[in-house]
Amino acid sequence: MSQLIVLGVQWGDEGKGKIIDFLTEFSNIVVRFQGGGNAGHTLIVDGEKTVLHLIPSGILHPKVISVIANGVVTDLKLLNEEINNLSKNDIIVNEENFKISYNTHLILPYHKMIDKYREEQRSDKIGTTQKGIGPAYEDKAARRGIRFQDFLDKERFDKLLKTNVDYYNFQFEHYFGKDKLDYDELVSQSDHLREFFLPFGEDTRLMLYNASLKGEIILLEGAQGSLLDIDHGTYPYVTSSNTTSGGAIIGTGYAEYSKTSVLGVFKAYATRVGEGPFPTELHDETGELIAKNGHEIGATTGRNRRVGWLDLVALKYAIRINGLTSLAITKLDVLSGIEKIKVAVAYKYQGKTLPSFTNNIEILNNIEPIYQSYDGWDNSLPLNTIRVYEDLPENAKKFIKALETMLEIPIEIVSVGPDRNETIVINNPFR
Ligand code: GDP
Ligand code: IMO
Ligand code: MG
Repeated sequence: MSQLIVLGVQWGDEGKGKIIDFLTEFSNIVVRFQGGGNAGHTLIVDGEKTVLHLIPSGILHPKVISVIANGVVTDLKLLNEEINNLSKNDIIVNEENFKISYNTHLILPYHKMIDKYREEQRSDKIGTTQKGIGPAYEDKAARRGIRFQDFLDKERFDKLLKTNVDYYNFQFEHYFGKDKLDYDELVSQSDHLREFFLPFGEDTRLMLYNASLKGEIILLEGAQGSLLDIDHGTYPYVTSSNTTSGGAIIGTGYAEYSKTSVLGVFKAYATRVGEGPFPTELHDETGELIAKNGHEIGATTGRNRRVGWLDLVALKYAIRINGLTSLAITKLDVLSGIEKIKVAVAYKYQGKTLPSFTNNIEILNNIEPIYQSYDGWDNSLPLNTIRVYEDLPENAKKFIKALETMLEIPIEIVSVGPDRNETIVINNPFR
């Protein structure tokens, strides 16, 4: 196996960044394949925290190459800020260790503006991150998007920009009653970004293929989570890309199926930021305690995350639609001290058990989750000090084994704290 896709399999913020940073030690290249600056991936190494939005979570390992592949929508202004912030902490991002696909679509200021104006206007809000993600993917599908490769020809770029600025300014002025964007200012901003970023340009499809031929190990980093997938998630309360494993193939143009494993990352409970159905959501003191102990505040928007019990109906669905080969459970430490841990094992709707998770919002909002309870473990032995599975409290091991039995795929990694080293490897997916 020389390629591992690592995905969040709930509603995002499962701890993908932490797991990817941990697994980067065993890889040569780490690739982001969808989403954009809506992601917030937190890495903590020896207490030092780094939050990444666009740069792949392998960046802390100096010899690894980080790649933004074609499926990502890239905000170069945000990327510039991210690179500058990293350099303050002596993390170097240069043309040697960072590559941008010529095919990535650019997020431009009008995308972020319209994302914000629409959210302000909608009565039935989605709760987007307002990073321009939806509008940028719309332009891609509408074939008016501007790609990184358009930087290669300034005349072409400026012409495309003019067409798009005119298109958006009409809406800003006549539909939203807002100020128009200044085209000349945008051209000047783009000129600066072109000069800085063009040297990072790469045919990343070919680069990944050639790397694979040389036997290099490729890690594909998902953003968001399976239940936010535009096709398979809780539409319309989703993001605008395919966050599931198929998105990794489309989003890179690299399709070494026979060499690929798919690792799903899930929290020992569940969270969601933004609007949309959440069948196991807690509105009580236990929910507040989990939110407090898990520091459940969004890494991108600073919004409080909604909290609920682990949902195995949703997780089984995610295993199926992603073709997961194994799982990593995170934040097990956060459940320490909770006497009875619940997990949803079935959904009842109008008196009948549903055969599967569903995308029907009306049903999801009205189902009754059927729970199974597990005895918890106390705080006497802080879980984040444990490095070997056998040393976990008996009830924690029983909980993990019960999940494995019900989910029918192995749990290979148990994360017991936010730091890179607060990790228990039961089986390394790269070995
Ligand atoms: P991502 O978007 O999936 O990368 O996840 P985020 O970084 O947005 O959110 C996960 C949060 O949980 C971050 O603050 C991490 O530092 C933290 N975290 C990750 N794994 C663990 C864990 O096992 N235990 C605890 N307590 N925190 C964790
Ligand atoms: P990571 O990679 C959690 C949510 C937003 C909103 C919906 C649509 O850190 O797990 P968008 O801005 O994408 O159009 O918003 O998706 N969302 C996330 N929630 N984690 C994320 O990323 C998210 N990225 C988007 O809150 O509900
Ligand atoms: Mg996040």
